[in-house]
Amino acid sequence: MDLLSKGWAVSLLLCWFFVVVSCNSVEKKIYVNLNYTVSCVRLLNATHQIGCQSSLSGNVGVLHVLESEENLDWVLHSGPNPPYMVILESPLFTRSIMMKLKNGSSRVAGVAVVAPNTNPAAGFSPHTKCPNENTGVYSVKYDPAMAHCNKTLWNPLGNGLSYEEFDFPIFSLKDDNETQVIRQCYLDHNRAMNGSSLQYPLCAMQLYSHMSAVTDTATCMRRNDINFSINPEIVCDALGDYNVWASTRPLNNTAKGHKMWESVVIAAARLDSRSFFFDIAPGAESGVSGFVTLLAAAHALRNATQEAQPNRTILYTFFQGETFDYIGSSRMVYDMENKQFALDLDNVHSVLEIGQVGLRADSRLWLHSDPVSRRNNSVNEEVKGLIAKLHSAATGLSVSVQEPSFSQPLPPSSFQRFLRARPIPGIVIEDHQSAFTNRFYESMYDNAEYLNVSYPPNLSPEEQLEFVTDTAKALTEVATVVARALYTQAGGEEPQLSSIKADPQIVTQMLYSFLVQSNNSWFQQLIPSDLKSHLTNRPPNYYVGVAQQSSEPTLLVQHLLANLTGRTVNITQENCQNQREDENDKESKHMYSYMWVQGVAPPNGTEREGYCIRSTVRLSKALSPAFDLRQYTSDDYSTWTESRWKSIKGRIFLVASHELEMLTLGVGVGVLLTSLLLTYIISSKADILFSSGREPTNATY
Ligand SMILES: *[C@@H]1O[C@H](CO)[C@@H](O)[C@H](O)[C@H]1NC(C)=O
Ligand SMILES: *[C@@H]1O[C@H](CO)[C@@H](O)[C@H](O)[C@H]1NC(C)=O
Ligand SMILES: *[C@@H]1O[C@H](CO)[C@@H](O)[C@H](O)[C@H]1NC(C)=O
Ligand SMILES: *[C@@H]1O[C@H](CO)[C@@H](O)[C@H](O)[C@H]1NC(C)=O
Ligand SMILES: *[C@@H]1O[C@H](CO)[C@@H](O)[C@H](O)[C@H]1NC(C)=O
Ligand SMILES: *[C@@H]1O[C@H](CO)[C@@H](O)[C@H](O)[C@H]1NC(C)=O
Ligand SMILES: *[C@@H]1O[C@H](CO)[C@@H](O)[C@H](O)[C@H]1NC(C)=O
Ligand SMILES: *[C@@H]1O[C@H](CO)[C@@H](O)[C@H](O)[C@H]1NC(C)=O
Ligand SMILES: *[C@@H]1O[C@H](CO)[C@@H](O)[C@H](O)[C@H]1NC(C)=O
Ligand SMILES: *[C@@H]1O[C@H](CO)[C@@H](O)[C@H](O)[C@H]1NC(C)=O
Ligand SMILES: *[C@@H]1O[C@H](CO)[C@@H](O)[C@H](O)[C@H]1NC(C)=O
Ligand SMILES: *[C@@H]1O[C@H](CO)[C@@H](O)[C@H](O)[C@H]1NC(C)=O
Repeated sequence: MDLLSKGWAVSLLLCWFFVVVSCNSVEKKIYVNLNYTVSCVRLLNATHQIGCQSSLSGNVGVLHVLESEENLDWVLHSGPNPPYMVILESPLFTRSIMMKLKNGSSRVAGVAVVAPNTNPAAGFSPHTKCPNENTGVYSVKYDPAMAHCNKTLWNPLGNGLSYEEFDFPIFSLKDDNETQVIRQCYLDHNRAMNGSSLQYPLCAMQLYSHMSAVTDTATCMRRNDINFSINPEIVCDALGDYNVWASTRPLNNTAKGHKMWESVVIAAARLDSRSFFFDIAPGAESGVSGFVTLLAAAHALRNATQEAQPNRTILYTFFQGETFDYIGSSRMVYDMENKQFALDLDNVHSVLEIGQVGLRADSRLWLHSDPVSRRNNSVNEEVKGLIAKLHSAATGLSVSVQEPSFSQPLPPSSFQRFLRARPIPGIVIEDHQSAFTNRFYESMYDNAEYLNVSYPPNLSPEEQLEFVTDTAKALTEVATVVARALYTQAGGEEPQLSSIKADPQIVTQMLYSFLVQSNNSWFQQLIPSDLKSHLTNRPPNYYVGVAQQSSEPTLLVQHLLANLTGRTVNITQENCQNQREDENDKESKHMYSYMWVQGVAPPNGTEREGYCIRSTVRLSKALSPAFDLRQYTSDDYSTWTESRWKSIKGRIFLVASHELEMLTLGVGVGVLLTSLLLTYIISSKADILFSSGREPTNATY
C-alpha cells in the first residue's frame, strides 16, 4: 500500500512535469515575438490628439497582406474574419488608403507598414503642406496675403498623415527575415484560394501601444496634476529638450538680460526632425545638412575670430523642437524678452539661418528674406548689406547665391520667431527657390541615402569615417560661404576672408557620425566617459522627445561644438569638472564652460588620456513657455505633449476558431481545477503518502 501510493505520487509528479514542459514548447511554437518594433505614438496639442494607439491589452487581428487599394474591400467589407491586421508595403502607405482604413476602423485592428531597404523613387512626406502654419510670423495680422502659405506652398508633397489621429496601432517593420516570417505565416494560413473560405487556425498579430493620455494637452496636464496629489502617475510630458549655443566672445552667462556694448549676429540652424514613426527621424536634409554646415562654419571661424576679433559677437545657436511649432526658438526669444538669457533682443543685430542646404540644383543657394519687415527702410538696408556680403563670400567658390522674388515670404524657419518679436534684419539660406527641393520632408526616407552620403564598397567603418564624399565637399563650400559672410557681418575685415575655409575632412566625419553611426573613434574622443552609452551604431533619432534630459543629438552637438570652437586647457580633471581653471578661480565659470572628455584611445589598449576643453558652449532650455505659463491652450507657443505608455511590442501567433478557443479554454480550466484538487489532496495527506522518509537517490527520474 505504502509503495503503491509512493509510485502514484511519483508518476503524478512526472506527469505534471511533462505537462509543464510540453505547454512551454507549445507556447514557443505559437508565439513569435517581433524584435523590431517601431511605432507611431500619441501626441497632443491645445485642441487635438494625433497619432496612434492600441487598446490596453493590445489589438489582435487576423493578418491580411494588402496587395492593392482595390484589395481594401476584403478588409473593410467582405472578409469573413474581422478585425484585420493589415500589412502594407510602403507604396500603399498613402493618405487615401490610410483614411479609408481609419474610416473603417471597426474592422481594422492595426496596420504594419513594411519599410523598404532603399528609398522609394516617388516623393513621400507625411508632414503637412504648410509646416508650422499658425506659429510662424505670417499670421493674418502680419500680412493677410501671406498667411497660411498662400503665396508659396512649401511642402506640396505633404499628405498630413503625421497629424491624423488613428484609433488603432501602426507599426513599422523592417523588410528582413522577421517580416518574411510574417508573410509566410500569412501565405500558409490566411490566403483565400479562389474565394473558398479560410480554414482555421489563422495567422494573427497582436500589437501593443496603449497610450495613457487622451483628448488634448489641457486635459492631460490636468490629469497629471490630479494624479500627482493622489498617486503620482504622469500621463503626458511636454515635448522639449535643450538648445545649444556658443559665442565667439565669452559672454557672462550668470548675468542675464541686456549687455551694454554687445551686438551679436545670430547664426542659427535647427537640430530636430520627425517622421510618422516615433523612433525614426533621420532628418538628413531637413536638419543635419543645415547644422553640420553651421558647425563647420563655426570651426572655420575659430582662428579668425580669435586672432582678429571682429566688433560684433557671433552667436551660434542650434534650436531643438522646431518641428513642433518652434519650441526652441520661441523659448530663446521668450527668455531674451524676460531677462532669462545672457543677452536680450536689443543685443541682436541680425540673424543668418541655415536651412535645408544639402540638395542644390546647379550649386545654387537661395537667400530668403521677409518682405514685410523689409518695407522698413533701415531693415531693408541691412538685409541688402547682408545679401551683398553673402555674394562676395561666394566669389571664387563653386557655389552661387541668388535671391528669390522679392514678394515671397520666408520658408518655415526659426528666424520667423525673432521677427514675431520685432523687425530684425536677417536671411535664411536654403537650397530651394520656392517649394522645398526635399521630396521626403519629415519622413523616414530623409536619410543618408537621400543626401548621397555613400561609400565605396569594402571600406571599414573607420575608413568610411575618413572618406571624403562628394556631399561633404559640396557642404564644405556652403560652410565656407556662411563662415565668410558671418565674419564680415560681424565687422571683420574683408582681406581676412580668403584664409577662412571650412575643412572637408571635418564635414565628412560629421556627416558619417550624424547620418551613419555616432559610435566611432572620433566621437568617442569628444565626449565624457559617462556619455559613452549615447553613442550608437545607428544614426541618431532627431525626434525631439520629452524634456527631462537632453537627447543624444543635443549632447553630440554640444560636445562637438566645444571641440570645434574651444581650446584645450591644461588643468586637472577635478578643476575641470568644477568649472574653474584653478582652486582660487571663482570667475571663469560665468564666462566659460569646461568639459572633461575621453581623448584618444592609445592603440595598445591602455587607458585613454582625458583632457579639458574650455569653450563658450552652453545649453539653454527648449521647453515651450506655454508650460511655464501654464497656458495649455496658447495660440502663441507650442503646446505639444507626448503621451506616456507602458510598453510597445508585437507578436504573431496562430488563432484557432472561436469555438475551438472556447473548447481549449474549457479544457484548460478543467485541467487546472483537477490539478488544484489533486494538489490539495496530496498536500493534506502528505504525511500518509510520504511517511516512510525520502526515496534513496537512485530513484528513477
Ligand atoms: C466611411 O464609411 C461609411 C460607411 O461605414 C461610408 O458611408 C462613408 O462614405 C465613408 N467615408 C469615407 C470618407 O470614405
Ligand atoms: C490667398 O491668395 C489669393 C490670391 O492669390 C486671394 O484671392 C485670397 O484671398 C488669399 N487668401 C487669404 C486668406 O488671404
Ligand atoms: C493641433 O493640431 C491639429 C492637428 O495638426 C491642428 O489642426 C490644430 O490647429 C492644432 N491646434 C493648435 C492650437 O495649434
Ligand atoms: C535571413 O535569411 C537569409 C536566407 O534565408 C539568411 O542567409 C540570412 O542569414 C538571414 N538573416 C538573419 C539576420 O537571420
Ligand atoms: C526574435 O529574436 C529571437 C532571438 O534573437 C529569435 O529567436 C526570433 O525568431 C526573432 N523573431 C523573429 C520574428 O524573427
Ligand atoms: C484557383 O483557380 C485557378 C483558375 O481559376 C486554378 O488554376 C487553380 O487551381 C485554383 N486553385 C485552387 C486552390 O483551387
Ligand atoms: C558675471 O556676472 C555675475 C553676476 O552678475 C557676477 O557676479 C560676476 O562677477 C560676473 N563675472 C564676470 C567675469 O564678469
Ligand atoms: C588655426 O591655427 C592653428 C595654429 O595657429 C593652425 O594649426 C590651424 O590649422 C588653424 N586652423 C584653421 C582652421 O585655420
Ligand atoms: C570696430 O571698433 C573699433 C573701435 O571700437 C572701431 O575703430 C572700428 O572702426 C570698428 N570697426 C568696424 C568694422 O566697425
Ligand atoms: C578636438 O578633437 C580632436 C580629435 O578629433 C583633438 O585632436 C583636438 O585637440 C580637439 N580640440 C579641442 C579644442 O578639444
Ligand atoms: C600641464 O601641466 C602640468 C603641471 O602643471 C605640466 O607638468 C605639464 O607639462 C603640462 N602639460 C602641457 C601639455 O602643457
Ligand atoms: C602604450 O602606448 C603608450 C603611448 O604610445 C606608451 O606610453 C605605453 O607605455 C604603452 N603601454 C604598453 C603596455 O605597451
